[in-house]
Amino acid sequence: MDLFAVVATAFWVMLPAYIPNNAAVLAGGGRPIDGGRRLGEARLLGDGKTWRGTAVGWLAGVALALVLNAVVDPVSDVIGVTLVTFPVAIVVLFPLGAMVGDIGASFLKRRTGRQRGAPFPGVDQLDFVIGALLLGAIGDLLFVSEAWISETFTVEVLVVVLVMTPILHVLTNAIGYLLGLKDEPY
Ligand code: CTP
Ligand code: MG
Repeated sequence: MDLFAVVATAFWVMLPAYIPNNAAVLAGGGRPIDGGRRLGEARLLGDGKTWRGTAVGWLAGVALALVLNAVVDPVSDVIGVTLVTFPVAIVVLFPLGAMVGDIGASFLKRRTGRQRGAPFPGVDQLDFVIGALLLGAIGDLLFVSEAWISETFTVEVLVVVLVMTPILHVLTNAIGYLLGLKDEPY
């Protein structure tokens, strides 16, 4: 694959894992997942992880994956790169994994004394990627015989994902902050 094909593939496959966090920011509010419970001094997760934000984020990612599946052929034609289709298990588990990764990061932030909204460089930018890949890999093992994760995420694609995601994350959060949708620019 040439560089353009690798970047296009990396962006395409990660879109259903990128959107959930952004949708959660728009939909957040209501009951926190931890119900206000604490583990030691700090909250288990905090008020920034809500049932509504998680559900809306997940569904937004599922909806996007279904839309991408519907347009994969025309988009592949236009850009001249054969893009992949998302198997059902991945449609469901990729966006869920993104949300779970973000929730796991909040758990780690509270255990390390970071208040809600405090930055955790490195973790903030990649938690959802790790969550999506982990749940996707579990989905591969359990449901998808064609080993979608290992075939889609070649070393090149993985490297581009790990470099591109933090850049896109910083950019979209800065835009969200400027638009007044996010409290912090990270
Ligand atoms: N959000 C939510 N549910 C989630 C994730 C996010 O409701 N599972 C919403 C919350 O309103 C949250 C906002 O999106 O405040 C921004 O998300 P994020 O930056 O992940 O949370 P923080 O408020 O920064 O909290 P934390 O320090 O725990 O990450
Ligand atoms: Mg935050």
